[in-house]
Amino acid sequence: MGKIVFQGVTKSYHKSKVVIDDLSFTLDSGGFNFLVGQSGSGKTTILHLIHLSEVPNSGKIMIDDTIINRQTNLTNHRTKIGYVFQDYRLIEKQTATFNIKLPLYISKIKRRDRIKFFDKTVAKLSIEHLLDKTVESLSGGEKQLISIARAIVTNPKILLIDEPSAHLDRKNSLKILNVLMGIQSLGVTLILATHDIELIKASEGSRIMILKNGKIEFKKI
Ligand SMILES: Nc1ncnc2c1ncn2[C@@H]1O[C@H](COP(=O)(O)OP(=O)(O)O)[C@@H](O)[C@H]1O
Ligand SMILES: [Mg+2]
Repeated sequence: MGKIVFQGVTKSYHKSKVVIDDLSFTLDSGGFNFLVGQSGSGKTTILHLIHLSEVPNSGKIMIDDTIINRQTNLTNHRTKIGYVFQDYRLIEKQTATFNIKLPLYISKIKRRDRIKFFDKTVAKLSIEHLLDKTVESLSGGEKQLISIARAIVTNPKILLIDEPSAHLDRKNSLKILNVLMGIQSLGVTLILATHDIELIKASEGSRIMILKNGKIEFKKI
């Protein structure tokens, strides 16, 4: 579970400029994948295509051998795919708990499982002390943790993270990276987009996807 396939995917926002160019690749289930490339190379676009915030102009995207497109049920799709936005997109005036629980109510997860999923997520990230605080009172690193908690609370098989170091110092970035590696080791397919080469940490099974001129080159570390 968590296999991602691109088949001849092309994406452009304007006719004159192709962002993703006839791109084909397969990401098998599991694994820590770094998606790197310069600013503007299309990293966020790739994540948006998987998350179905954008659709390709041509080509096919498959998750676990099922094509995703405009007909796909978005609620079901997004229960399976966690997304950590670059700018967090948390509800600032609400508590951490409120924010983390939100996807559980939007998804069709059974009532008795909601509490279980929430408790598991909180324990995994050691964020007990943040739960009753409003998001606006948290630091950048703490917001990032809450944003990750919200993304994994439904037990997704794929986790997408966009530029986690964008608003954090080096120490907090590395801390978040370790948290993500812990989550990934439990079996999700994780894609972390970054233009921060220093963030790429050698770890067995990690893959580097280098995005340039609309194509991806793979490297294994
Ligand atoms: N919604 C959009 N409308 C128009 N152009 C866009 C949109 N999103 C991204 N782009 C353009 O697509 C290219 C790739 O952007 P993006 O995927 O955000 O790259 P990255 O995340 O690597 O910085 C850029 O030239 C950007 O300006
Ligand atoms: Mg981006």
